[in-house]
Amino acid sequence: MAHLWRGVIREYFDRLDVTKDTPIITLGEGGTPLVDAPALAKLVGADQVYLKVEGMNPTGSFKDRGMTMAVSKAVGHGAKAVICASTGNTSASAAAYAAAAGIQSVVLVPDGKIALGKLSQAVAHKAQILQVEGNFDDCLDLARDLSANYAVHLVNSVNPDRIEGQKTGAFEVVEALGFAPDFHVLPVGNAGNYSAYFKGYLEDFNAGTIKAVPKMWGFQAEGSAPFTVGHPVKNPETIATAIRIGNPASWDLAQSAKECSQGMFGAVSDAEILWMHRFLSQEVGVFVEPSSATGAAGLLKQAKLGLVPKGATIVVTVTGHGLKDPMWALKDEAGQEIVPEKVSTRAEEVAERLGLV
Ligand code: F0G
Repeated sequence: MAHLWRGVIREYFDRLDVTKDTPIITLGEGGTPLVDAPALAKLVGADQVYLKVEGMNPTGSFKDRGMTMAVSKAVGHGAKAVICASTGNTSASAAAYAAAAGIQSVVLVPDGKIALGKLSQAVAHKAQILQVEGNFDDCLDLARDLSANYAVHLVNSVNPDRIEGQKTGAFEVVEALGFAPDFHVLPVGNAGNYSAYFKGYLEDFNAGTIKAVPKMWGFQAEGSAPFTVGHPVKNPETIATAIRIGNPASWDLAQSAKECSQGMFGAVSDAEILWMHRFLSQEVGVFVEPSSATGAAGLLKQAKLGLVPKGATIVVTVTGHGLKDPMWALKDEAGQEIVPEKVSTRAEEVAERLGLV
C-alpha cells in the first residue's frame, strides 16, 4: 500500500508530547534505513549487527528528529528566533528547520573547530553564525544565558523536546526488527541521543512491545571522555569534532539510562575511530563522519576484550553523513593526501594503469 513517510511528528503523533494545535515543522525526517552489516558482525563476532544510518536524514544527521519537535514547539510558543550551541550538526539542523518555519536561527560554534560541510549548511540556511572564543561547553553556557534573558528559544538537547523527538530512533529499530536488540551502541557527546534512545526503548518496554530494553553502550573519544574519567573534562581534544565535549549536558539522564539498562560507557582513541571510519566505508559501504564511527570503534574494542556475546543482535547508530566532514576520507592510513591519478583518453593506457593487461 502506498505510504508517504510524513516525518516523525506525524508518524508517532500519539507517542510524542504534541497536540492538535502544535504547528508541525517537518522536512520528512526519520524513517532511516537499518542496514544489515555482516562485515561488521564478522569483525566483532556477533550474530547480527545493524547500522541505523542517521546520515539519511534531511540535513544528514540524527539531529533532525529532535529539531522537528523543538522548532515546532518553539513556533507553537510564538518564538521568532531559535538559538543553539553546536559542534556543527545541531546548527545545520536548527538552521534548516528555522528556514522551513520562516523564523531566524542563531548558532554559536566553537572557534575553528567545526567541519566545513556543517558550516556551509548553516550558512546556506541563513543562520546568524557566531564563532565563539571557546569550546562547545562555553558556547552552550552562552546559549543558555542568552535564551534565559532574551527573546530567543533554546533548541539544544537540554530542551526536552529534542530528546522527545530523538527517541523515535528506538521506535523505528523495534518496528524494523520486531524485537529489541541485545545491545544498542552509539557515540556520545552531550549524551542526549544515548538518553533519547533509552527513553524510546523504555516506552516500548512499558507498552509491552518488547521484552527487555537493550544494554546501552556509549563511547566517547579518549581525549574527550568525561564519562570514563567520571567528571567533566576541561579542555576536550579529539579529531572527532562533533563529540569534542567536556561537560555533557545530559549527564544525569545518561547515567540513569546506563544503570537501568545495565549498559556502559567507554572511550576509544582517535586512531581507533579513524580505523573504523575507513572500515565502515570500505567493508560495509556506509560513509559516515569520523565521530559517527566512534560507536562501532567502541564495539570492536569490547569484542577484543571478549565482551561481545556470540549470539548477540546489535544495533549501532551511525549519527552523521560522511560528506559532512569529507577530508578524512581523502587521506590514507599514513595521513597522506589521496589524489586520483591522471590518465589520457587512450583505452590501452587506462587498461594498463588499471592492471587489466
Ligand atoms: N554524532 C554526531 C555526528 C554528532 O553531531 C553528535 C553531537 C553526536 C554524535 C553526539 O550526540 O551530543 O547527543 O551525545 N553533536 C552536537 C552538535 C553536539 O552540536 O551537533 P550527543
